[in-house]
Amino acid sequence: LAFATRSKSVATMAASQEFTGNLKREVEKLFDASLRITVPDGTSVETEVAASLPGKPGDYQCNNAMGLWSIIKGKGTQFRGPPAVGQAISKNLPASEMVETCSVAGPGFVNLVLSSKWMSKSIEKMLIDGIDTWAPTLPVKRAVVDFSSPNIAKEMHVGHLRSTIIGDTLARMLEYSKVEVFRRNHVGDWGTQFGMLIEYLFEKFPDTESVTETAIGDLQTFYKKSKTKFDEDPDFKEKAQKAVVRLQGGDPIYRKAWAKICEISRTEFAKVYQRLKVELEEKGESFYNPYIANVIGELDSKGLIEESEGARVIFLEGFNIPLMVVKSDGGFNYASTDLTALWYRLNEEKAEWIVYVTDVGQQQHFNMFFKAARKAGWLPDSDKTYPRVDHVGFGLVLGDDGKRFRTRSSDVVRLVDLLDEAKTRSKTALIERGKDKEWTPEELDQTAEAVGYGAVKYADLKNNRLTNYTFNFDQMLSDKGNTAVYLLYAHARICSIIRKSGKDIDELKKTEKLALDHPEERALGLHLLRFAETVEEACSNLLPNVLCHYLYDLSERYTSFYSIHQVIGSPEEASRLLLCEATAVVMRKCFHLLGITPVYKI
Ligand code: ARG
Repeated sequence: LAFATRSKSVATMAASQEFTGNLKREVEKLFDASLRITVPDGTSVETEVAASLPGKPGDYQCNNAMGLWSIIKGKGTQFRGPPAVGQAISKNLPASEMVETCSVAGPGFVNLVLSSKWMSKSIEKMLIDGIDTWAPTLPVKRAVVDFSSPNIAKEMHVGHLRSTIIGDTLARMLEYSKVEVFRRNHVGDWGTQFGMLIEYLFEKFPDTESVTETAIGDLQTFYKKSKTKFDEDPDFKEKAQKAVVRLQGGDPIYRKAWAKICEISRTEFAKVYQRLKVELEEKGESFYNPYIANVIGELDSKGLIEESEGARVIFLEGFNIPLMVVKSDGGFNYASTDLTALWYRLNEEKAEWIVYVTDVGQQQHFNMFFKAARKAGWLPDSDKTYPRVDHVGFGLVLGDDGKRFRTRSSDVVRLVDLLDEAKTRSKTALIERGKDKEWTPEELDQTAEAVGYGAVKYADLKNNRLTNYTFNFDQMLSDKGNTAVYLLYAHARICSIIRKSGKDIDELKKTEKLALDHPEERALGLHLLRFAETVEEACSNLLPNVLCHYLYDLSERYTSFYSIHQVIGSPEEASRLLLCEATAVVMRKCFHLLGITPVYKI
């Protein structure tokens, strides 16, 4: 921030601060104001505020003193060293009900302790107005999240499962942050594979009209058989190649057969989405086909496209191969479609942030067409300026053997079977604990589903997405450690405490006060207040694991509080019930953002 242009009088403003949700930002505003009067006119400095590490004095610290000193020393400043600059920053901090104390330590670290009273009030307010009042505000109005995106008739593999889970969470976090999100399923429905699929369909079912899903059976097997024929039978191969041309040329019979195959695939995919409760809007590769020629034309008129070995390509700095946009046979490819989809998203859909979720193996493809788009002037040069594009890459899913995840019987893992197994296993665990006798069959089923699917999602999301992760049912379904099961149970336990108290929590919210007098209560309260800044960080860096980490920490802090302090029957009962409720509310929001259904009973 360049303070030179700002007036000094602003520093006297921030008297009473309404909490907007992002605690770190609120603290930054205070230090901003202080720095504006502490530093001499014309000095440009960025406010550096960080949450203090556990065990350190203060809740937040401002680290500007040392850097500032090196800028102003020897320039006739009245300060005699960084600690003095720190003292001035502390002294010039505007009066605010947020602040308990502000002090300077060591070489000039300015430590701010928040007022417990203000913290309590902010949490009370959230309980009454709802957690949506804590939603972060991002600098974009509309985003596209391109995720899941399997290929028609080919297998929908665990990589697509990862993309589906990660993409859904990112979309949820952006939606919570008031961004309008287009959840795009960029399915591969336009590749050359359709030539052989259609020809094979004609051969097997001359009466294409009446072909049903059950007749074709497993589309993946169908794909494999047609592929074998394609590889072995030259006549068939030729027919298949001609079929692609007829399809792409719009021949109605071929279009119909194509639509049929897509429809069957779609029904298969929908089963996975329905189980995971993930919403997606399909705009597959074929959707962009009518626009490709114009887009390539535009790139050509800008002088970006060159001939190379019969193909048309874009040479890009920093890459040893060019980006092919028209194949030597005149056909379009993955890159031409992606460039066109990007053009469409920017110009027709007016998206300001476009996020692509695929395995890291595709990183080069994305880097290349992003670069081409910058060259064409569609995107700013800086990759953090909007309109912005990001490739959200992720690592492999491994089996216990450390190799790519496969099942024993077949080489592909059917996602539906995988999810079914997670549910079955969690149901078995619930029955072992006698829940089938306590609950209705529906309750048992719903809980098994929430826990089973939640476990699969959480096991994926809790790791930094770039690392490979090992798929292991026993681990993810364990009720100990950093698992969805542990977290869901922690939430259910809080709910049961509130139920057991026999108190009407909505009534308490209106009539009672929340106090954070004890260290464990205060630590829990502070963590609650850091929810929004965490979501904002997870959004800005596109890292769901940041939110998982927060959630796990929250349950740990709750445990520290609950294992020391009695809730029901204590003199502080009302206040502590409110703290329990606030914890449950924030946990539920985390679950929601991670696409996990909370459970209320265990
Ligand atoms: N269909 C591709 C695959 O399965 C993923 C598509 C990702 N999205 C995109 N715009 N390229 O690998």
